[in-house]
Order: sequence, then structure tokens, then C-alpha cells
Amino acid sequence: MECRVIGDPVSHSLSPLMHSVGYQAYESLRGWSYAAVRVPASELEAHLEDIRKDGVRGISVTIPHKQAVMRFLDRVEIQAQRIGAVNTIVNQDGKLVGYNTDSDGIVEPLKKRFELAGSSVCVIGAGGAARAAVYGLASSKATVTVVNRTFEKARALAREFGCDAAELSPDFDFSPFNSIVQTTSVGMEPHVESTLVRADQLRKGQVVFDIVYVPLKTKLLSIAEPRGCATISGWEMFLAQGARQFELFTGKQAPIDMMQTVVLNRLSEQQISKGRNGHGSR
Ligand code: ATR
Repeated sequence: MECRVIGDPVSHSLSPLMHSVGYQAYESLRGWSYAAVRVPASELEAHLEDIRKDGVRGISVTIPHKQAVMRFLDRVEIQAQRIGAVNTIVNQDGKLVGYNTDSDGIVEPLKKRFELAGSSVCVIGAGGAARAAVYGLASSKATVTVVNRTFEKARALAREFGCDAAELSPDFDFSPFNSIVQTTSVGMEPHVESTLVRADQLRKGQVVFDIVYVPLKTKLLSIAEPRGCATISGWEMFLAQGARQFELFTGKQAPIDMMQTVVLNRLSEQQISKGRNGHGSR
């Protein structure tokens, strides 16, 4: 069986490494392969037809195709419909079915740290990754506040999911929240000194999740730690969304430890030689 990640650009993707290692954990997946294929936007529709014909089993979808692919699929699962983006396609006997595993990628690392139901979570940003976060958190019965530089976008997103909205100002009070989920690209290489939150806006015991993973420890995480916050790096989102994809493609449990080891090793190596591509959902 063949699987692939499609995007443009895609050569930097860690998905081939992560999925291929996962196949090695199962004797029955020995014939499986996973490749990165660059697909320009103008070739997306034709590429999906080829995938259908050739029986490619699973497709990870990345920038810039997560929304555009939706209209070429036979069915889009409710989760992906609500988020408005597909990051996973499964070829079920010639029928292409779209899923979104990015919201699981955000929710699962948080669930390991605390009970989401009844907690209050602040989502910073109102773009595509924020939508996946808000959907996942609201579905897990957390009380969500969307905070964004452009208030209008925060309000529109919050309204859709029945949440609160606020404008991200320098004196915004983050103290009421159990957790803060940072979904923008602020702090990503090469702007490693940037952060939308200062240390004095955080308090001990909060769980701070930054979906950026290049660098592995962003400025936000490095200021949160000494404040006594628990921190989650974006690689955990990348791993969790990929593990869920693995399960959709193969029907088998993802060998998460093996996948984590290769992803972290590769990211550490890349970051020693200054990496790129650092947003959990990519
Ligand atoms: P993605 O799909 O990866 O989430 P996006 O749709 O481009 O990315 O969304 C980017 C988000 O990051 C937006 O919420 C954006 O804020 P605005 O709506 O005000 O543009 C936020 N963002 C990006 N750069 C920012 C910055 N320097 N300061 C504050 N917010 C920023």
C-alpha cells in the first residue's frame, strides 16, 4: 500500500519519516510506503483523480491545500466540515473521504495534562490552526476564549462555536485561564525572540501549549517554564495528528513511542543546523 503527503512546498515534511517508521512496527505493514509529493495548486484536482485510480490508500494534506481539497472529495467527515479543512484523506475503494486530525493533535496533548471538560482555555489566534483548536476544545466541553490581534476575526470564530472573544492587547489578562493555546506562527524560526505573551501575564500552574515546533522550545515556552507553568511544544501536536492519521490509514494502533523518537531526533538535528517548517499542523 502506498500513502503520501501532498503540499507545496513539501520537501521539508517529517511525515514520511514518522509514518514509515510506524509501518516498520507491524509485520503486516511491511509492504507499505509513504512519500512526500509536491503538488502545485493547479494540479490538485488531477492529482486526486490519479490517487483514486492508482489506489493510493492514505493522503496527508498540508499547506496550501487543506481547504481546496474539500471540493474534490466524495465525502467529508463532520469534524472536518466544521473545522472547514481536511488534513487527511482515506481512499476507501475508490471513494475519497476527508478527515481532520489537527483538532485531535491539539486536544490529546492537553488531555494528558488536565481534564478539559469544565476547564477554561484561551486560544491565541483566529486562523486555520485556531479553528481546529476551538473545535476540539469546545467539543471536549472546555470553555474557550478566542484572543486575536484582529478582534473581528476572533469574534467571527468565537460566534461560530459559541465561545467568547477578546482582542489581544499588551495588557490582556491571561490569569483566569487554566490553559493557553498559542496557534499563530509568532515565535517560529527565524523570529525566535518573538512572543505574544509576557512572563508577567502568566501564573503558576497554567498549561501553556505553543503549536510552533521550530524551535522546539519557543520564547513563549521558555518564559512560561520559570513561572511554574506546564509547557507543551508543537511537536506533540505534529505527533498526535500523525498518529491519528496512521490509524485511519492502516486500521492499526500507532506505535507512538517509535514515531516520537524519530520525530524528536530529526527535529533536534535540524535545529542544530537551523531548521524550518515549524507549525504543529504542517
Ligand atoms: P494558520 O492557518 O496557520 O493558523 P493564518 O490563517 O495565516 O495561519 O492565521 C494567522 C493567525 O496568526 C491570525 O490569527 C493572525 O492574526 P490576525 O488575524 O490579526 O492577522 C495571527 N498572527 C500572525 N502574526 C501575528 C502577529 N505578529 N501578532 C499577532 N497575531 C499574529
